[in-house]
Amino acid sequence: MISFNSEKQIFKLDTPNTSYVFGVEDKGKYLIHYYYGKRISGDDVRYLAVPDEGALPSANKRDKLSFLDCAPYEYPTKGVGDFRTPALSVKNEKGNEATELFYDSHKIIKGKTVTGKLPGTFGETADVLEVTLKDPVLNLSVILRYGVFNDVDAITRSVIVKNEGDKPLTLTRVLSLSLDTDDKDYELITLYGSWARERTIDRKPLRHGHQGVSSMRGITSHQEHPFMALVTPDATQKTGEVYGFNFVYSGNFDASVYLNQFNFSRVTLGINPEGFEWKLEPGAEFESPEGVMVFSDEGLGRMTRTFHDLYRNHLIRSPYKNRKRPILINNWEATYFDFNTEKLLAIAKQASESGIEMLVMDDGWFGNRFDDNRALGDWKVNEEKLPGGLKYLVDEVNKLGLKFGIWMEPEMVSPDSDLYRAHPDWAIQIEGREAGLARNQYVLDLTRSEVLEHTWQSIKAVMDSANIEYVKWDMNRPLADIGSKALDKEHLGEFYHRYVLAVYELQNRLVTQYPALLLENCSSGGARFDPGMLYYSPQIWCSDDTDAVERLSIQEGTAIVYPLSSMGAHVSDCPNHVLGRTVSFETRGHIALAGTFGYELDITKIPEEDKNMIPKQVEMYHKYNDLVREGDYFRLASVRENGIYDSWMVVKKDKKECLVTFVGVINRPNYKPFKIRLEGLLPDKLYKDEDTGREYYGDILMNAGITINRFHGDARSTLIHLKCE
Ligand code: DGJ
Repeated sequence: MISFNSEKQIFKLDTPNTSYVFGVEDKGKYLIHYYYGKRISGDDVRYLAVPDEGALPSANKRDKLSFLDCAPYEYPTKGVGDFRTPALSVKNEKGNEATELFYDSHKIIKGKTVTGKLPGTFGETADVLEVTLKDPVLNLSVILRYGVFNDVDAITRSVIVKNEGDKPLTLTRVLSLSLDTDDKDYELITLYGSWARERTIDRKPLRHGHQGVSSMRGITSHQEHPFMALVTPDATQKTGEVYGFNFVYSGNFDASVYLNQFNFSRVTLGINPEGFEWKLEPGAEFESPEGVMVFSDEGLGRMTRTFHDLYRNHLIRSPYKNRKRPILINNWEATYFDFNTEKLLAIAKQASESGIEMLVMDDGWFGNRFDDNRALGDWKVNEEKLPGGLKYLVDEVNKLGLKFGIWMEPEMVSPDSDLYRAHPDWAIQIEGREAGLARNQYVLDLTRSEVLEHTWQSIKAVMDSANIEYVKWDMNRPLADIGSKALDKEHLGEFYHRYVLAVYELQNRLVTQYPALLLENCSSGGARFDPGMLYYSPQIWCSDDTDAVERLSIQEGTAIVYPLSSMGAHVSDCPNHVLGRTVSFETRGHIALAGTFGYELDITKIPEEDKNMIPKQVEMYHKYNDLVREGDYFRLASVRENGIYDSWMVVKKDKKECLVTFVGVINRPNYKPFKIRLEGLLPDKLYKDEDTGREYYGDILMNAGITINRFHGDARSTLIHLKCE
């Protein structure tokens, strides 16, 4: 709910359990932030930011700068005296970089839709507040856009900047949100990683000055993630105050906290200003991507569940969002590049007999693609591998009762490809400098309309050639050597953002022209796991590391923000191809069950006893997927923290059913059984353990807990399914 107190000039944004308050200060001038936290009655909190009227100098008084450098701005600007991190910075045609914004007007809109070319949250249960600020010197207008959800404790923020003057302006920084918090001691949680080690949780105390995470790789990246949480030091899964921030964007980002001289921290989130400049011609406007803010006073677990609900109900738009996904088998780890129609059909036949529902043909089906050194861009089927073409293969797979999915990496071109030979200038490069290869490939300059159109036609030709029901959209290198024939010196700073917009344009065309398609994004594993991508694809490949034990931490870090239904997770063969570790087939299945669930192995070659387990795992998936996909997720224990065991549970929204997964990662001799306390249940209801028939009251399960016998061996797991009437 959004309210405006016209007498006091205060805006109040309420979600079911949180309030966000700011107002117009000093006679219609600055927009000042007052409060963000647990829901409060009324809006009378101006005194928090402005303790004494006399202490607030007006803009033209002598000590303007000391005021500007400590006031909690709603949207701070650069160059006029606030020396903390600005959210907006604009250069005029003379090169001066100073902006000062004053309140002009506002409007409240019912319902939230996605406007423009960027992904975003939507919903009829949300309202939008647009506050217009103006810089009269620059003739600049800035609209602060707030999406306020009435069914989930989330507020989104974005900004539209308009040049209302007659001279061009240059935007050098347009962040999506800024939040000045109070002077509590906070700790900072971020997610860092590497290839095969994505989204590792990192927690540290805030230090004075700047800190945070950012990407300059043109994509979200393995290394950094556009998520950040400020938490009170006592914050656990269940307790403490938590402010979570996530960015609905798939390119360079910056998420920072600046702890100032008075121990107040400023959080900022947006497109990375490094490598960004945008020329704004008279009459033109620029829209920032959306930042999401979530507050919880019940620890990290509550924040996580809020993000899950927001993304499941108000971001993912695929028709699959509320549907079971077909259990797929992907041939990447089964064959790598060494496959043909015969091999794929043998896999499909066995898969179909085991209850698997879709065959996904991964990299290597096109052009001269016998290894990863060539042929990207040549999206014509390799008839040597697939005689009769795609149509024949797909029809045969369909006859076996399986759907068919395909891998593509549309943004890329190999130097050894017909496409590159025909258009060497289509690769991103700087004239006169040899562009760097990564995985022996270049990135196509999608900011050029002819390259984008060609890429779209290539995708479309593949899609139209057979009954393709799933696409895995891969992206296997970062962007470097930034140069473009489409952008002159004045516009080159727009490159990274224009590139992301072009990817969104292609994905938008794909999912609108093929509305029944199941799209899965991927980037060398999980380097493009972000909310921007979730808008187009309901699932994203989590990591190339399919080792079940490693997946515990990767999936824990991913699930801190993203719903289990979005985490691409497969049972793969052992010894694991990345780590060489062997984990039981059963445990591999239990861990993949916490994601989309599928297989990534040669079903014609795996041990007989593993193969025989697949129909049971398929049954398990069908039994539990509705619960896993739609329920509330609780993290009960983390092997990352305790070094020995891992556990999570999913509770049905009506709280009458839950599934607990417990993994004993390292066995130790001569200890009592494990004990874990469950969460999220109805205290006075009697829950029955489906396996043992034993009954427990919800409050017993949550306070006394349940015991789990020690396993014989490492990385063993169990599922506990409990229900009440
Ligand atoms: C990287 C992906 O993460 C893998 O799953 C696989 O599709 C390869 N690319 C194919 O090149």
